[in-house]
Amino acid sequence: PLPRTAPDARASFLVISNRLPDAPSAAAGESERARNVGGLVSGLAPALAARGGVWLGWSGGRRPGALELAVDASSTPARASFDFHPEWHTRFYNGFANRSLWPIFHGFPGRARYDESEWRAYVEVNDVFAEMATRLVAPGGTVWAHDYHLLLVAASMRARGHSGPLGLFLHIPFPALDLFETIPWSRALLDGMLAFDLVGFHTRRYAQSFVRCAEELARATATSSGVRVDGREVRVGVFPLGIDAAPFEEIDAATEGEIAELQAALRGRRLVLGVDRLDYTKGIVERLDAFGRMLELHPEWRGRVSMLQVAVPSRADVPEYAEQRRAIETLVGRINGEHGEAHWMPVRYVYRSYGRGQLAALYRAADVGYVTPLRDGMNLVAKEYVAAQHPTSPGVLLLSRFAGAADELEGAILTNPHDRDGMARDLVRALEMPAEERIARHAPMLERVRRSTPEVWADAFLHELERR
Ligand code: ADP
Ligand code: F6P
Repeated sequence: PLPRTAPDARASFLVISNRLPDAPSAAAGESERARNVGGLVSGLAPALAARGGVWLGWSGGRRPGALELAVDASSTPARASFDFHPEWHTRFYNGFANRSLWPIFHGFPGRARYDESEWRAYVEVNDVFAEMATRLVAPGGTVWAHDYHLLLVAASMRARGHSGPLGLFLHIPFPALDLFETIPWSRALLDGMLAFDLVGFHTRRYAQSFVRCAEELARATATSSGVRVDGREVRVGVFPLGIDAAPFEEIDAATEGEIAELQAALRGRRLVLGVDRLDYTKGIVERLDAFGRMLELHPEWRGRVSMLQVAVPSRADVPEYAEQRRAIETLVGRINGEHGEAHWMPVRYVYRSYGRGQLAALYRAADVGYVTPLRDGMNLVAKEYVAAQHPTSPGVLLLSRFAGAADELEGAILTNPHDRDGMARDLVRALEMPAEERIARHAPMLERVRRSTPEVWADAFLHELERR
């Protein structure tokens, strides 16, 4: 339990996110995974590793009744967490966050559904996060909140007397006005975001959409640094998240072994690789379908290429995710049934997570990094693929135009995942690209990925936030 008084014992820097990198063992109920998978954890964990302070998030547990903060001071930053009521897990996490905000922010209005009781749970859980945060951080301390789960914490913290800087980074896209205003509580959400001092996005386009919504719905005025609303300045910035490239570049002996095994299994065939959380925004069905179409249009590639799709379980008790899993499994079966031979399976599919070394081995062995989300805030997998390539014999990144990473990775082949034939054509182009062109495309991307680390991202955001 947390010392509740003594403001001087409170942290001067607090990070808040729904997810923590490692769910504490006491609360392993959620999925028994040792490491949580997703862009937020991959980016934030290394960025904060040396920074001190406290990182507050959901424990991963679901226990009725108790609402206690557990603090683990053995990590840096110290971890603070609390359990969710089972009802919050259903209404806040599975409900408003993942069945309302997630689909609408990614541009899937047909999948978004709205339920008054889920909205109330969202308001309540944001308030609980704000209450916990206020207990942990010094009144004038810096608070950095993350992602769509926590859009309302700033207003709630201000109401509790917090006077220090409050920043929000959104890890997912921000939708266009026409979509945003279809949310029944769009104005309340927007006001919540405008209660922060700084709001950060991965790309210029998301920042522009946000400013446009603020102008239209909250009568804000755009300024050179963000917007002016009700006599206050709210800064809006673009901070593209990167990766720590070194662990993907440095292939150790164990990883070498993995690569050799994989290559033996491929027996000279080319490898096309997809790696994602299992999510409908990732376009896995469309990607598989385009791979099947490529085999139809280009029979010369039959038996000479295999696709491997690695999908890590995610939000599995949300119906749209369970349905997506079934759709993927059905399609893999169909493609293998239609195109496979006794000695060759076109698609291999695994539903699990891998450690970083194993992922690096898969990336290095793959001739094509097939990263084709229908919409994605950033997509770190694309950057990890670039980092893992050998500079003198790199593979080709086939990247969706609709991933935030497309703004930075100019050497990729950009593809439209809604265009099946176009994607099949782009796949053949990737498979046939001569070494010279592959190297010329890869080198500047690697440079960029190396420079744009999570530390650089966090420094830029926090520097801006604390500049008052
Ligand atoms: P998102 O945040 O939507 O999950 P990103 O591509 O930005 O998408 O980040 C995904 C992160 O999760 C990457 O760092 C990637 O290495 C990791 N990841 C994705 N799939 C797997 C997997 N099957 N096993 C282990 N890690 C994975
Ligand atoms: O990066 C986007 C993101 O939604 C993060 O906010 C989240 O932590 C991650 O993907 C994985 O999702 P979840 O936390 O629901 O497992």
